[in-house]
Amino acid sequence: MPIPSSEAAPARLVVLVSGAGTNLQALLDAAADPAYGAVVVAVGADRDGIEGLARAERAGLPTFVHRVKDFEDRAAWDRALTRSVAAHRPDVVISAGFMKLVGPDFLAAFGGRFVNTHPALSPSFPGMHGPADALAHGVKVTGCTLFLVDEGVDTGPIVAQSAVEVADDDTVASLHERIKVAERAMLVDTIGAMARRGYTIEDRKVRLG
Ligand code: GRF
Repeated sequence: MPIPSSEAAPARLVVLVSGAGTNLQALLDAAADPAYGAVVVAVGADRDGIEGLARAERAGLPTFVHRVKDFEDRAAWDRALTRSVAAHRPDVVISAGFMKLVGPDFLAAFGGRFVNTHPALSPSFPGMHGPADALAHGVKVTGCTLFLVDEGVDTGPIVAQSAVEVADDDTVASLHERIKVAERAMLVDTIGAMARRGYTIEDRKVRLG
């Protein structure tokens, strides 16, 4: 599934956030260079008042917020999110610390081009507490995973991974911060490569260019 970007036009990225938005910022910084091959065209969130949205506003980007609690049910929220993302005509949608699972409408619209960054080495430690679960298990190496989102929780085809060593004196916070350094580099490098080279997915194997 190559990204339908041409050499003349950079790939259009819509980024979804729920928090600090440091992964978003890394993409914004990388995309400032035209050679990167992709630009962030809009940022969406599931909550107000977060630094991720402030970063987008400082960058002059359009933003949208859909809070689950403002909708009749999860399906209506999913439809609204799908509509808002689609309005920006993305080539790739990036969940960068977006703490919600999307539904069938969203996956029907963006499946195969919706990636999520997860702070653990999949398939270990899926879910909301990757760094804490890795620390509690006592692993010596953990890391981060960029994958194409499917119906499961952190189960989709893996695009990239990066390993991070666990230190004896790590806390959840110190480990997560170190993972996030690796995560930002992985995200920037991989999204740029996907945009410039395209990619294929076959039997769960994602290959760039
Ligand atoms: C990242 O570690 C992401 O994988 C996790 O939440 C963190 C988001 O960080 N789900 P930020 O908002 O990009 O700073």
